Amino acid sequence: MCGICCVVALSGQSTVYDHFNEDLHCLLRRRGPDSSQQLIKTVCEPSYECLFSGHVLHLRGQMTPQPLEDVNNNVFLWNGEVFNGVHVGDSENDTEVMFHHLGLCSSEADILSLFSSLRGPWSFIYYQASGHSLWFGRDYFGRRSLLWQFSNVNDNVFCLSSVSVNSESCNQCQEVPASGIFKMDLKDCATTQSLSLTLFPWKYNCTEKTEEEIFIDVLGQISKDLPNHITVRMNESKMCLSAPVTPLNRTISEASVEHASTDSSDSSCTVSIQTLEGYLAEERKKILVHQFIDVLDEAVRKRVLLLFRGEDQGTREVEGVCPRKARVAVLFSGGVDSMVIAALADRHVPLEEPIDLLNVAFMTKEPTKRTGATKSCVSQEMQLNLHHGQENHKDLNAEIGDDLSRFDVPDRITGRAGLKELEALNPSRTWNFVEINVTLKELKEMRQQFIHNLIYPLDTVLDDSIGCAIWFASRGQGFINKKGEMKPYKSPAKVVLTGIGADEQLAGYSRHRVCFKKCGPEGLNKELEMELGRISSRNLGRDDRIIGDHGKEARFPFMDEDVVSFLNSLPISEKADLTLPRGIGEKLILRLGAKELGLTAASILPKRAVQFGSRIAKLESNNEKAYHTCSRLKLLQ
Ligand SMILES: *[C@@H]1O[C@H](CO)[C@@H](O)[C@H](O)[C@H]1NC(C)=O
Ligand SMILES: *[C@@H]1O[C@H](CO)[C@@H](O)[C@H](O)[C@H]1NC(C)=O
Ligand SMILES: *[C@@H]1O[C@H](CO)[C@@H](O)[C@H](O)[C@H]1NC(C)=O
Ligand SMILES: *[C@@H]1O[C@H](CO)[C@@H](O)[C@H](O)[C@H]1NC(C)=O
Ligand SMILES: *[C@@H]1O[C@H](CO)[C@@H](O)[C@H](O)[C@H]1NC(C)=O
Repeated sequence: MCGICCVVALSGQSTVYDHFNEDLHCLLRRRGPDSSQQLIKTVCEPSYECLFSGHVLHLRGQMTPQPLEDVNNNVFLWNGEVFNGVHVGDSENDTEVMFHHLGLCSSEADILSLFSSLRGPWSFIYYQASGHSLWFGRDYFGRRSLLWQFSNVNDNVFCLSSVSVNSESCNQCQEVPASGIFKMDLKDCATTQSLSLTLFPWKYNCTEKTEEEIFIDVLGQISKDLPNHITVRMNESKMCLSAPVTPLNRTISEASVEHASTDSSDSSCTVSIQTLEGYLAEERKKILVHQFIDVLDEAVRKRVLLLFRGEDQGTREVEGVCPRKARVAVLFSGGVDSMVIAALADRHVPLEEPIDLLNVAFMTKEPTKRTGATKSCVSQEMQLNLHHGQENHKDLNAEIGDDLSRFDVPDRITGRAGLKELEALNPSRTWNFVEINVTLKELKEMRQQFIHNLIYPLDTVLDDSIGCAIWFASRGQGFINKKGEMKPYKSPAKVVLTGIGADEQLAGYSRHRVCFKKCGPEGLNKELEMELGRISSRNLGRDDRIIGDHGKEARFPFMDEDVVSFLNSLPISEKADLTLPRGIGEKLILRLGAKELGLTAASILPKRAVQFGSRIAKLESNNEKAYHTCSRLKLLQ
């Protein structure tokens, strides 16, 4: 993960430094603590000035400081990981490989075909000196953050950055739309003293839509969010990038139509592990589930192996052999998404290396009560089992007025149960279950100091809750149980795996049930397609900014191109069955996979979003709605 930034000034009045301040520099450095450099290009004819700022987190290969510049004066900033599509040798660095390939491109078509072939998350900024062109963009899902900011009409300054400072004094930043890659012709812009962009949008390999229709859709979307003086156009020859995934299969099976009308979700309360076994008894289903596990397994493998694993420095003194340190951490609630990811990571991470399971809990106002957590009758038995041991313990604590039980939020309880399952699955692995307890005071301080800048430009109550929860979880600072004693611990892992994308693709949210009831499988298909389409602007950019702030890299196995293509190729009926109750019906294929991996309890837990599971949503909010603008993110400076 790196922090990248470029400021372009097109007129003499304003210099690039007016728009590159110390606060921004600090934020970028937190993302890339291992090397920071600046480079300025001043061109007189046509007249413009560009500042490039690159901050590198060293993860694999040789440390490669950025920005890179070649003999032709081209400049490159890269915040990405090439997992496939372009060959990167073991000793090579993807930043250099990409720059080299770009240098060989002799036309726009060449550049488009290079980015079309890439697999992995990325955002980039590329200055092509000979044509005075500035290229930039984000991958198809927007897995890496990039923001843009346009100045007022007369100023003609344009800024791109991985993160930005949330202050009222400057023009609103926005996420660069992940709808394609952009090119800015600096010569044109300098001559006309105006800002205009050319967009090369993504296009599915096979689609009913013509290029014309795609352009109208996409350009309309982008233009409506931009200031009036900025124009976005397409290339006359309608050139596109080819999307790295196959489109969603909207086939509706006859059976599922019948099911939808005979709603059974209230009647069948007896869902259990046997229900899953019933499905797996069907040979065809079993094969499908194994195909899914295989493609997800490969996505996890790439994400845990492609990172530097040298000797730990200077830790070989005391006690003979020091235990190795963790390089991979999982954002861990004990729910089925994080359990499957942890179990698959276990297959590939060297056995002597611990895996950190990051589990966050916000202190509740009152000791947690049993009510509320078990609203649905589904797998109630399971939940009661999970809660049982804790209840007595809690009552006892409440009596002696012990605050600690206030961290026993739902995710902590399922997390501990999940840990037991993983320990049973692989007893020789060191699983570090990191208990991250956050008090209201600390939440307020860290939000004010860091988190509000990272959530920006997003601003809802939901963004605040999720953003804060993920920030504390991914910081990895808490306590682990060492031989029965709780010891302070800070996760050293630079790679953080998250389960985001599972709910969006496999109908995991309760709104999907509402939608299914109202509009049937067709409606659900539409909803899922829409949600995957906006995941870049709603989730992934934000999560990348939040996790990157700790000098760690977020990796999203469920958003791997091959995983998405596989899931997109299946009709909805194979992925979820919302006629079944909560805890089984949603994310059905993943639950079946979990069962096949030997994870039983986790496979039938109902979804609990992080803001509820960690109880952050209960901490400060009164009766606000998730989509309201969050007042706590304002008035901070
Ligand atoms: C390339 O180098 C940068 C900076 O050292 C590092 O972040 C990145 O992980 C490296 N990539 C590869 C493939 O070596
Ligand atoms: C559109 O693409 C063609 C072919 O590469 C190129 O010659 C032309 O300059 C491009 N137009 C714009 C506006 O970028
Ligand atoms: C789309 O087609 C191109 C060229 O034929 C190919 O390289 C690419 O892999 C295809 N993409 C997908 C997602 O199938
Ligand atoms: C964190 O919370 C748990 C309850 O989930 C408690 O058992 C533990 O002692 C707490 N740790 C610290 C350091 O407060
Ligand atoms: C969509 O799913 C149906 C039913 O499984 C299958 O027959 C068809 O080949 C799939 N289409 C694509 C494009 O994958």
